[in-house]
Amino acid sequence: MDNNKKIVLSGIRPTGQLHLGNYLGALSNFVKMQNEGKYDSYYFIADLHALTTNPDPKELHTNVRHILAEYLAAGLDPEKSTIFVQSDVPEVSEMYLLLNMHVGIGELMRTAAFKDKARKALGITAPTQGDDDEDVAKEIIGASTNKRVNAGLLTYPTLMAVDILIQRADFVPVGKDQEQHLELTRRFARRFNSFYKTEYFKEPQNFNFGSAPVKVPGLDGSGKMGKSEGNCIYLVDEEKAIRKKVMRAVTDGGPTEPNQPMAEPVQNLFTILKLVGTPDKVEYFTEAYNNCSIRYGDLKKEIAEDIVALTTPIRERILDIENDSAYLHRVLEMGAERARARASKTLADVREIMGITKF
Ligand code: TRP
Repeated sequence: MDNNKKIVLSGIRPTGQLHLGNYLGALSNFVKMQNEGKYDSYYFIADLHALTTNPDPKELHTNVRHILAEYLAAGLDPEKSTIFVQSDVPEVSEMYLLLNMHVGIGELMRTAAFKDKARKALGITAPTQGDDDEDVAKEIIGASTNKRVNAGLLTYPTLMAVDILIQRADFVPVGKDQEQHLELTRRFARRFNSFYKTEYFKEPQNFNFGSAPVKVPGLDGSGKMGKSEGNCIYLVDEEKAIRKKVMRAVTDGGPTEPNQPMAEPVQNLFTILKLVGTPDKVEYFTEAYNNCSIRYGDLKKEIAEDIVALTTPIRERILDIENDSAYLHRVLEMGAERARARASKTLADVREIMGITKF
């Protein structure tokens, strides 16, 4: 790989099959960056991060296979990108231990994603207002013994920072929900540098082709598409399932006055149309909405067909690739080798900087 190219790195946690939100928000960007040829790209499957929510072992393994097949089916190319599984790079685990020595429990506890997941683990709901940091701490310490927030969940940002720093990444294409983790990564890098009086780590930046991160709305009228919301279309969904889901999407009674503002569920359908359809269709349906002649059934049919056209070829490739164990094995072997080469160099440097050297 070309040494002068900037490094791009990103990962997805294997917690289920990928949906249209993952594809449009993340994976399609990975492919675009790869194909620009300007970067040296690293895309991985964050199986160690998935362990923070204690998945069933068989399910975890199957999910790693799904994501890998989905990466490849969407166009990631093992000849152009380094595609690997996080746990195939043991250097990550060692550096995670080392970096944790410079990470504060307090700052980890104040991370939004942690507070969310900690509350979920304890089965409590967030207060609707006010500063809730102290509450989470009290709730965790006071929790009954059969409910616990595991330490892996707390140190999730350390592990993510290591994923990024160990490959010395310049750009990390991630969605809005990961921006705080990226900010922590930069903070840990700065702290390491200043503690050891070095300029070793650079500060990685988000990257989104100059636009705001894409947020793909769900089909149930509000919020974003996500597997926990049960409002999503998977890349492996059959055509019939896609049509059924889209036709059932929430709308309203229809506009009664010209140029009436759109309710959120309708706005969401237009957002999806903009992402999957052509500009002339967007214009056509916007016009129809504005002059009150719109039929939501037609809009949904258009969206469904556009999604089918986008995902069908991907689905067919997923099904082909997923069963080709020999191919998957080869891809990961090659990826692990390249990812480890870079990681072991960083780890050796970090050990030395921290004073762990041979006699
Ligand atoms: N936390 C990310 C997510 O849930 C996944 C992830 C783990 C990641 N390590 C990373 C993303 C490093 C980018 C870079 O989406």
